[in-house]
Amino acid sequence: MGKYFIITYGCQMNEHESEKIAGTFEALGYERGESVEDADIVAFNTCCVRENAERHAYGNIGALKPIKKARPNMIIAVGGCMTQQPGAAEKLRSTFPFVDIVFGTQNLSELGEMVKRRIETNKRVVDIVENNAIAEGQPAVRNSFPNAWVNVMYGCNNFCTYCIVPYVRGRERSRSCDNIVEEVRQLVGEGYKEITLLGQNVNSYGKDLPEKVDFADLLQEVCKIDGKFRLRFISNHPKDFNEKVVKVMAENPKICKCVHLPVQAGSDRILKLMNRQYTAEQYIEKLDMLHKIIPDCAVTSDIMIGFPTETEEDFQDTLKVVERANYISAFTFVYSRRSGTVADRMEGHISDEVKKDRIVRLVDLQNRINREQSKKYEGKTIEILCEDYDEKRDLYLGRDEYGKMGYCKSDENLLGKFVNIKINDCSGISLFGDIVSIE
Ligand code: SAH
Ligand code: SF4
Ligand code: F3S
Repeated sequence: MGKYFIITYGCQMNEHESEKIAGTFEALGYERGESVEDADIVAFNTCCVRENAERHAYGNIGALKPIKKARPNMIIAVGGCMTQQPGAAEKLRSTFPFVDIVFGTQNLSELGEMVKRRIETNKRVVDIVENNAIAEGQPAVRNSFPNAWVNVMYGCNNFCTYCIVPYVRGRERSRSCDNIVEEVRQLVGEGYKEITLLGQNVNSYGKDLPEKVDFADLLQEVCKIDGKFRLRFISNHPKDFNEKVVKVMAENPKICKCVHLPVQAGSDRILKLMNRQYTAEQYIEKLDMLHKIIPDCAVTSDIMIGFPTETEEDFQDTLKVVERANYISAFTFVYSRRSGTVADRMEGHISDEVKKDRIVRLVDLQNRINREQSKKYEGKTIEILCEDYDEKRDLYLGRDEYGKMGYCKSDENLLGKFVNIKINDCSGISLFGDIVSIE
């Protein structure tokens, strides 16, 4: 059948969905290709959370025009969050008539059929649906070893006013606890060493299920699986993050002591406009509750600047929370207007100049905190799970359970191994160490 190549934008959810796209293509008989140039089928798995992500995708799809002209039999498929927006399929149809298949976030399981239809009829196949069903048992070709992504729920009901995700991912729906546990058991059996549970708001897990089960119960069940592996999960919503989950974390050494708890902003006025449903003080109370039970637990965050009407004072409140929260790492974002969201229709959008100034100051602060966090590692021995090899520097890299990145040198292939390293350089954001022992 030929070769496939997939280009992925966006979050871990999309990374994992691209593994399912790969699984679908391999089930049809395609093999993984090295580039667009040698591929017979190319898929774009798109993101629309910020304008930039969308611009990149449109740019790269456009760049395929000459390749498609030279090789008209090459199939181009575009899917993911961008295509699920109202009017997007139409825009793709008129701007990029050479795109063969357009699919959405909720009919990925139909992609195989769509490819077959395209080949049989030689006609464009465009299919975007709203389907809140959960497709189980889709084949996935994983490429994030030693980590494996596992969906626990899809969609989001929170409607933060800046965010497009609830519009393109549909309502919250949870997979059954049994299906999740079975998938993890299988992955651990296959040798995966880290499992990351995925959901836009994992703390609402189970609310829509007939059985009485919540996220803490699910974590507990997953921890019962034998074997050495690390368990992580993203994302948590501060309004729903609770003591029951933290207690399960404290009792189960398999769960990494690291929680992604996005704060977004530190001003109560802005948090309210964002519809986040907590105040800065309530957020700090959650951190205090967490640290009372697990004193050394690391916290990571998403922080946004430049939300409509944000004043210098509001921004200072964000800096204050960031300073106080002492994140081990944080993703920092400039607010980006998303058509169809409530915030987009608000007055008082912030100029690019002000946004630029604020993001620089925020990044400076978080970098300083990152370096201070690193210094605490001086002389310590930590256990990292080697997840990659940096060819240029000839170094293996992996994270400790707190999510801190460590590097070490080895002639032996360390991928997927737990390695103890003694830190000898912690002057930057990442750590460097000498190997003490392997597994
Ligand atoms: N459900 C996850 C987040 C998914 S989107 C959660 O709530 O944690 C990842 C991050 O992108 C968000 O946390 C937010 O910080 C950022 N983001 C979302 N919409 C954005 C927008 N319109 N402009 C800038 N950043 C945005
Ligand atoms: Fe977006 Fe908020 Fe849902 Fe996260 S919780 S996906 S930020 S609406
Ligand atoms: Fe993820 Fe982007 Fe969609 S962040 S959920 S791929 S809009």
